[in-house]
Amino acid sequence: MTEKLRNFCILAHIDHGKSTLADRFLEITGTVEKRRMREQFLDMHPLEREKGITIKMQPVRMRYGEYILNLIDTPGHVDFTYEVSRALAAVEGAILLVDATQGIQAQTLANLRLAQNENLVIIPVVNKIDLPSAEVEKTAEELSSLLAVRPDEIFRVSAKTGEGAEELLRAVIEKIPPPAAKLKDAPLRALIFDSQFDPYQGIIAYLRVFEGKIKKGERIRFMATKAEGEALEVGVFLPERTPREELDAGEIGYVATGIKEPEKVRVGDTFTRYIDMSKFRVSPLPGYREPTPMVYASIFPENQDDYEILRESLKKLKLNDAALSFEPEDASAALGRGFRAGFLGALHIEIVAERLKREYGLKLIFSHPSVSFRVKKREGEMENIYSAAKMSLAHEIEFLEEPEAGVEIMTPARFFGPLTTLIHECAGIIYDTSSLGVERLLIKFRAPLREIIIDFHDRLKSASQGFASMAYGVSGWKRADLIRLDILVAGEKVEAFSEIVPREKVYLAARKRVAKLKEFLPRELFTVALQAEVEGRIIARETIPALKKDVTGYLYGGDRTRKMKLWEKQQKGKKKLKEMGRVEIPSEVFIKMLKK
Ligand code: GTP
Repeated sequence: MTEKLRNFCILAHIDHGKSTLADRFLEITGTVEKRRMREQFLDMHPLEREKGITIKMQPVRMRYGEYILNLIDTPGHVDFTYEVSRALAAVEGAILLVDATQGIQAQTLANLRLAQNENLVIIPVVNKIDLPSAEVEKTAEELSSLLAVRPDEIFRVSAKTGEGAEELLRAVIEKIPPPAAKLKDAPLRALIFDSQFDPYQGIIAYLRVFEGKIKKGERIRFMATKAEGEALEVGVFLPERTPREELDAGEIGYVATGIKEPEKVRVGDTFTRYIDMSKFRVSPLPGYREPTPMVYASIFPENQDDYEILRESLKKLKLNDAALSFEPEDASAALGRGFRAGFLGALHIEIVAERLKREYGLKLIFSHPSVSFRVKKREGEMENIYSAAKMSLAHEIEFLEEPEAGVEIMTPARFFGPLTTLIHECAGIIYDTSSLGVERLLIKFRAPLREIIIDFHDRLKSASQGFASMAYGVSGWKRADLIRLDILVAGEKVEAFSEIVPREKVYLAARKRVAKLKEFLPRELFTVALQAEVEGRIIARETIPALKKDVTGYLYGGDRTRKMKLWEKQQKGKKKLKEMGRVEIPSEVFIKMLKK
């Protein structure tokens, strides 16, 4: 049976056409009927459809002739690389898709490297050949030199019109090997590569069976967490979950576990049968490395009564977003109890914030995101700091270290000038530049991670008219001269707005922060001072004028003293408001302020 199975995924830089190509495969194989077909069918999450990007991998099983093809569609944005790396461990081969109008991009390279590390068979494909601006031959040449294959071995398709798609599907069958055949009666070993929470069936584990088989009704066991349950339902993705009697070695599918506690089912864990555990010595499959968070933000419920709901929501969200990490944060005087969460980037924070709001109905406050720092105090050990509000004052610190990013930029050579300026502005140091093909450059540099993580991608796009792309990872730690900047609203420090910035840029950062806050905060009935403070000194200030209410509008003509009286009353009221005056900051403002 395994000879007729193929497991593969599609890898590409963002927007190069993965989901569209997957649509064509769904049509060719008749997996989705024509009348149900809609664009980017596998982007099932409402946020994916809204933003037009894939944030979740999505498996689907297709039938083509006598073959069964399991495809996993993966995200292309750098913040979701962890999703890609997990999909890769579940398959034998990958289609590497490159947009003929864009050429090879940074994520093409980063994804290719991941696939090569997993020893996957790679099928190179040039996409969007229907577009008049497509540079098909040039892109094919780039790919052929990158992979050291002949240009005629590169497939040329249009995911939009479907040209070349069926030929490509046949190549998947020919070139990608079936799952290695294993002993039929081997104990079950399946890798959990994703999971989801279902209110009725408990946690649904997405898995790739490597050895053995699993049937409905059998008792199951998770090797790392030692949790046990029952296979309430076993099935495959068509792409909806569809029950089957059993899942065999080599297959990709799901098991409904009935387990309700999210911490018991971990992505990367090995799943087996209770009976196999009792008969054999079953060893776990190699799991995944835990993702290292790049950036941290603290999350507080606007209403403190929602604290436990927030904890449960984060646990459930993590089932479906394994790159998210979180732990309880020491209570903050102003914001109460909350969690410190680790993310892979700014888009990741935005997606998590949006999902917590929509799927769990929570109103939340997010602190300004920050990379982690290592601080050696004059008295004391080295300690890790994850949020600016917890950073010690400068005079207590002996030295401070921050994470450094290794960044790769792929760009048409003509943008080399503006890009070096941008890299310089971000305190980056270029250490290598090489060319790929005739006019494409790969620039490698190191820079503080905090400069890269939040808005570097947007700045890169504007400096290169959208043509350059990037990939990055943490390369090490470096000493730095940084200082904490606090923001006061109506005289009160708002911890969520604190930030750690380079000492030499502190005035500029302070002015920018208060100006931006002025733009987002709604007006109150009294004037509100916005101040930026460093080491007890105010270094920037803005004022939000009071909302003027026309209290005398209904009076016309007559005695001016009546108006005077009303104005006086208004003044008194305002003074009283100011005395009581705490400014309520709406939760959207915290999200808006996340972006620099
Ligand atoms: P992410 O999932 O966000 O990484 O993107 P993706 O790689 O899945 O790209 P997607 O399939 O969403 O395609 C991006 C855009 O390119 C969409 O507007 C598609 O309609 C378009 N597109 C994809 N393939 C082709 C093609 O062969 N020709 C043309 N003309 N447009 C295409």
